[in-house]
Amino acid sequence: MMSQEQNDLITRTGPKDACGKLMRMYWQPAALVDELQGPRPVKAVKLLGEDLVLFRDEQGRYGLIDRHCAHRGADLAFGRLEHGGLRCAFHGWLFDVSGQCLETPAEPKDSALCKNITQRAYPVVEKSGILWAYLGEGEPPAFPEIDCFVAPDSHTFAFKGLIELQLAAGARGRHRSVACLVPASLLRGRGSGGRLRQAVPRRIRRQRHADDEDPARI
Ligand code: FES
Repeated sequence: MMSQEQNDLITRTGPKDACGKLMRMYWQPAALVDELQGPRPVKAVKLLGEDLVLFRDEQGRYGLIDRHCAHRGADLAFGRLEHGGLRCAFHGWLFDVSGQCLETPAEPKDSALCKNITQRAYPVVEKSGILWAYLGEGEPPAFPEIDCFVAPDSHTFAFKGLIELQLAAGARGRHRSVACLVPASLLRGRGSGGRLRQAVPRRIRRQRHADDEDPARI
């Protein structure tokens, strides 16, 4: 039987927790590229216990910044995409993908206040249909060159779904649902990429965990 201490050791993912520090050494899946399509590519995400907002600016650059505005903590998932960044809906501070504040509209015209304001931000890369974020310190590691990340788009796809797990204690163990993002390579599959792609129903490839639904997506 696992002790509370052992359980905490492997499940707590905050920046100061052992497991959190370990996971922050690697790129983490944040969302499907498909989820940042449409007229308003802004999505609230929770990664390793951190509340963040993921967005794509007019130039196609991805940003992942703290969900709560550096000014008064308003929810940036309700922000407006414009002028090279995400604008807070409360007082209009504008943040670019690096978290740099670009505008503080309520300040006098010659104010340089925004130059000294940054929102915590994390790097994001797109690989095989998934947006990956690095939440660690310093330079991110090189992205692993395994087959599903180096294969051409025609031979890969990504899906997000639920995995039902039977945890410990066999049939009497507890069920857990785990949402996961999975990049898949078709290089080693049987038959054509197209047929394998069809083997995973579209609704599974695009399925979202119910917990992901967030009013800020509107
Ligand atoms: S709370 Fe965001 S600009 Fe004021």
